Amino acid sequence: MTSLYLILWIAGGVLLQLAVYLSIGFWRHWQSYQALRNVAQEFDTAANPDVAPEELQPVAAAWSGYRSFRVERKVQEDTTKQVCSFYLVPEDGKPLPTFLPGQFLTFQLDAPAVLTGSQPVIRCYSLSDAPHSTHYRISVKRAPAPVGSPYPAGISSNYLHDHIQVGSQLQVRAPAGHFHIDRSDAPVVLIGGGIGITPMLSMLNWCLKEQPTREVWLFYGVRNRSELVMQNHLEDLAAQQPNFHLHLCMSDPHADDLDKHPSGPVHHHHGRVDVSLLRRLLPLKPYHYYLCGPTPMLQSLVPALEDWGVPDGRIHFEAFGPASIPRKNLASAARATSTGDDKDAAVLVTFAKSGKQEIWKPGMGSLLDFAEGLGIVVSSGCRAGGCGSCQTSIRSGEVAYTQAPDFDPEPGSCLLCVSTPKTAVTLEA
Ligand SMILES: Cc1cc2nc3c(=O)[nH]c(=O)nc-3n(C[C@H](O)[C@H](O)[C@H](O)COP(=O)(O)OP(=O)(O)OC[C@H]3O[C@@H](n4cnc5c(N)ncnc54)[C@H](O)[C@@H]3O)c2cc1C
Ligand code: FES
Repeated sequence: MTSLYLILWIAGGVLLQLAVYLSIGFWRHWQSYQALRNVAQEFDTAANPDVAPEELQPVAAAWSGYRSFRVERKVQEDTTKQVCSFYLVPEDGKPLPTFLPGQFLTFQLDAPAVLTGSQPVIRCYSLSDAPHSTHYRISVKRAPAPVGSPYPAGISSNYLHDHIQVGSQLQVRAPAGHFHIDRSDAPVVLIGGGIGITPMLSMLNWCLKEQPTREVWLFYGVRNRSELVMQNHLEDLAAQQPNFHLHLCMSDPHADDLDKHPSGPVHHHHGRVDVSLLRRLLPLKPYHYYLCGPTPMLQSLVPALEDWGVPDGRIHFEAFGPASIPRKNLASAARATSTGDDKDAAVLVTFAKSGKQEIWKPGMGSLLDFAEGLGIVVSSGCRAGGCGSCQTSIRSGEVAYTQAPDFDPEPGSCLLCVSTPKTAVTLEA
């Protein structure tokens, strides 16, 4: 045998070994991918978007109406003092019911009448920690007045920051909401923009405690480091838990914001959270995506995830205010948007108690905006279908929801803040 043949034999043997090695690796990867897919498919079935949300996970309210809570601790969470956490314990000393990570509490606040008129102030705040037997926690960001506007700063958030201290009492409705993490062990991607981090913190803390082997990614978008909330807590978790991947995305970083941990457990990115970043970083796995953040972030990320091929049942999101997020494939989204949004869909709306009648056309907003525009006083709180304050009886006709409400309205009534008229409608307002 010549030396050339010998070299060819050796090279052939090496190539054969490499091929066997790669095939085994590929086979194992494929098997684990299939296993994860099955887990995720089981969850997809449970989260079938064609099923009305209330039929998915009937979570009975833990108490009815408002319950009195006392503020046990108040903690500033960021360096610019814009976000403050409140630790709440029940005044009656009775056991504290658990909740699903991602759910929120609804508050009725005694803000000064000079700010609120005669209306009670009702707002929703997400629970920002995993369930504990002793207390609930919320984290609230001050809402400033829009730059250059004549409007006052946000009533509820500033009232909580400035007037609610340790020992203050707050009136609270039971945890509620359909936006919460699943209990499977499918890998999960949490995306929080700004104060939209709060439900993600609850999901993350619960997951790492109850499902320590589950793969969790958190993409947290802020403008710069000074806006980060609970940064030390997140960095400690990333250092301790190898299956938790923390990515901080800063769209407008200060000079030294990005290079604090060049090779540590925390990864920094200059820019917003977007699908190209996710595509670059995430391995090929059937992740479930949970998103909460400003409306523009949801309006760009949700369709981009769909375009990337993420099935509808694996995209879960919540907006902290009125938001219309276009969904490409969901039958439920089609139900919500197809009605009332046609060009010629001008319909007559009658407000029976106030004796007013007017034509509603697409572009005129929700029935709550429409009523207020006519000078009709309707009680409202979250303006996002969460608190139930704007619940109004329907005497005749039908309405359509622009987003699935978290509060289940009584039969024969609707939530004006997230509905538009589907046919001519008469409302008890
Ligand atoms: C399910 C859910 C969960 C939420 N979770 C959280 C959370 O965890 N943390 C959190 O901080 N927030 C959360 N929010 C948002 C929160 O409920 C409040 O909407 C937020 O705190 C602002 O309320 P506010 O009373 O301070 O401001 P508002 O008084 O409602 O004012 C809102 C903004 O409008 C401006 N404004 C006032 N008057 C006018 C006017 N006439 N025209 C135009 N603009 C005007 C104000 O200056 C302010 O910027 C959540 C909301 C929902 C629906
Ligand atoms: S204002 Fe909260 S549900 Fe309409």
